[in-house]
Amino acid sequence: MPDYEKEKELAARESLKYIQPGMTVGLGSGSTAAHFIRLLGEKVRNGFRIEGIPTSVRTSVLAREHGIPLTDFSQRNRLDVTVDGADEIDRALNLIKGGGGALLREKIVATATDFLIIVADSRKSVDNLGAFPLPVEVIPFGWELVGEQIRDLGAVVKLRMTATSQPFVTAQKNHILDCRFEEIADPERLCESLRRITGVVEHGLFVGLTDLAIVGRGDKTESLTAEGVA
Ligand code: A5P
Repeated sequence: MPDYEKEKELAARESLKYIQPGMTVGLGSGSTAAHFIRLLGEKVRNGFRIEGIPTSVRTSVLAREHGIPLTDFSQRNRLDVTVDGADEIDRALNLIKGGGGALLREKIVATATDFLIIVADSRKSVDNLGAFPLPVEVIPFGWELVGEQIRDLGAVVKLRMTATSQPFVTAQKNHILDCRFEEIADPERLCESLRRITGVVEHGLFVGLTDLAIVGRGDKTESLTAEGVA
């Protein structure tokens, strides 16, 4: 069985090559991005100067623990590069994200980024998106109605719950619907359909945003662009 933790670390280490001194760096969320933050922290402690914008409260705590200076959108309106994880990556580098519940901040940071790098272990690379339930952030009022409309698009919809059986609450105080489509044939079209539903705040489909995916596979990494192997 592959060592997925090692694959994540290899991908995160490879992504460091794209970080130059003076850059504003988006700091992703999840266990693969955590490897990147730890490795970047080592460089910062050795005098490497960058500023980070975290995509979640958890990431901002982790970044501080590793000594990474942080900034925000009151100081910067673009990021040079962001390194984040994903739940699924297809051949065109479209993604499902939001397994950790941080999809809204992750998407705000991704869309403000000049060069988005996704780091992942080999399990995340898929032919078609959809086996992983697509997280959709919705306002709490009327979430049931939103759920019905997403069901009409072909998904099995579940309100995300916490370990203590309470509805999961995001950083923006919304809920998450996990929507299992099994196969998303046309991600762009699904983005448009979801955007038309009143009550949807954002969804975890990231279409056409990724510049480079670095996937750990065994003891190597593969670097992929939407055109193929980089
Ligand atoms: C967080 O909301 C997600 O988008 C993560 O980026 C995604 O779930 C990947 O996490 P792992 O790197 O832990 O698999």
